Amino acid sequence: MPQQVRGVVARGKGQPVSVETIVVPDPGPGEAVVQVQTCGVCHTDLHYREGGINDEFPFLLGHEAAGIVESVGEGVTDVAPGDFVILNWRAVCGTCRACLKGKPWYCFSTHNAAQPMTLEDGTALSPALGIGAFAEKTLVHSGQCTKVDPSVSPAAVGLLGCGVMAGIGAAVNTGGVGRGDTVAVIGCGGVGDAAIAGAKLAGATTIIGVDLDDRKLEWAKGIGATHTVNAGSGDPVEQVRALTGGFGADVVIDAVGRPETWKQAFYARDLAGTVVLVGVPTPDMRIEMPLIDFFSRGGALKSSWYGDCLPSRDFPYLVDLYKQGRLDLDAFVSEKIGLDQVEEAFTRMHHGDVLRSVVVL
Ligand SMILES: NC(=O)c1ccc[n+]([C@@H]2O[C@H](COP(=O)([O-])OP(=O)(O)OC[C@H]3O[C@@H](n4cnc5c(N)ncnc54)[C@H](O)[C@@H]3O)[C@@H](O)[C@H]2O)c1
Ligand SMILES: [Zn+2]
Ligand SMILES: [Zn+2]
Repeated sequence: MPQQVRGVVARGKGQPVSVETIVVPDPGPGEAVVQVQTCGVCHTDLHYREGGINDEFPFLLGHEAAGIVESVGEGVTDVAPGDFVILNWRAVCGTCRACLKGKPWYCFSTHNAAQPMTLEDGTALSPALGIGAFAEKTLVHSGQCTKVDPSVSPAAVGLLGCGVMAGIGAAVNTGGVGRGDTVAVIGCGGVGDAAIAGAKLAGATTIIGVDLDDRKLEWAKGIGATHTVNAGSGDPVEQVRALTGGFGADVVIDAVGRPETWKQAFYARDLAGTVVLVGVPTPDMRIEMPLIDFFSRGGALKSSWYGDCLPSRDFPYLVDLYKQGRLDLDAFVSEKIGLDQVEEAFTRMHHGDVLRSVVVL
C-alpha cells in the first residue's frame, strides 16, 4: 500500500518551501523505502529552490540523510529491513564505461528509484539528487542505501551523505592532498570545512580557510585550518601567497562555485598545483581568462562530483574515523530542527549563522 507522509516541497522558483502530504509507493524491483531519521540542509537544496539546478518543479528537497530501511522490493539483496543506512546520491551501475574501466566513482549511469513519489493529486515530484529526504519516508534505489555501523549519531553521520563527503573527497580523492601539502579552501561552509577536515586527515601542514565571514573563519580553525583569510579584507590571492612562501598552495579548493572564487583558486595555486571545483555554479555563470595562463601555470584543473567518492568504500571508514574521535562530525551540526523549519534554515544558511541545520524526524 502506498503511504502518505509529510515532506518538504519546493513548488516554484524562489517560492518558500512548504510541508505537504506526499505519497510514497511500495518499493518495486531494486527499490527500498527508508524511514528517514535525519537530513542535513545543504546549499544544493537552496540551489534547487532557486531554480539554479533545473526547472523540474515541484521538488521534494533534502538529500543528506540517514535512516532505517523499512521495506525492500523484489531482488534486493544488498540491504534488508532494519538496516541503518546513509543515503547516497550516486548508486553506481557497475556496467557503464566508467564502471567497466574500474573508475566507478565517475559512473555515468547512476541508479535512482524507478517509480515517482507524488503529491496527493498524483503530480510527480522530482526528488533532490534522486533522494528527497526532507520527508518521513522516501523511496530510493537500494544501491543508494549504504549500510554503516548503527551505534553512531544519525544526525552526524548522515552528513556524509552529501556535504561532508563532497568536501573530504574534494581534498582527499579529487585533490590528492598528501603529507606536507599546502592547501587553501575558498568558502568555509559545510563543504569547505569538510575539505579542511579532509586535508588535515591527509597530512597537509598548511591549511588556509578563506571566507568573507569571520564567524566561518573561526569555525574553520576549530575544524583544522592552520590559517585563515578574510577575502573581504584585501586580495585573497595575495593573502594565500603570503602564507605559502609567496608561491601559492599545492591544492586550492573552490567550495563556493562562482567565477570570481574559481579565478582566485586558479591564481592562488602554486605552479603545477591543483584546483578543485566542488562548489556548484549556476548555468548562467561565465569566465574569461587569458588562455596562456592555463598553459604556463600547468598543473591540474579538476571538478569534484560528490568528492569522487565510492559510498561503499568511503562511508564505513569515515564512520570508523568518527567513532575513533579522528573526524569530528558533531562539529558540523549547528542545530537540530523540525521538518517545518527548512525555510528558516535556508535563511540562516544565507546569513552564515550555521554550518549545518539538521532536520530530525
Ligand atoms: N560537488 C558536489 O558534489 C557538492 C556537494 C554538496 C554541495 N556542493 C556545493 O558546494 C557549495 C557549498 O555548499 P555548502 O553547503 O558548504 O554552502 P554554505 O552556504 O554552507 O557555505 C558557503 C560558504 O561560502 C562563503 N562564501 C560565499 N561567497 C564567498 C566568496 N566570494 N569568497 C569566500 N567565501 C565565500 C560563505 O560565507 C559560506 O561560508 C554549494 O555550491 C553547494 O551546492 C557541491
Ligand atoms: Zn556505472
Ligand atoms: Zn548536498
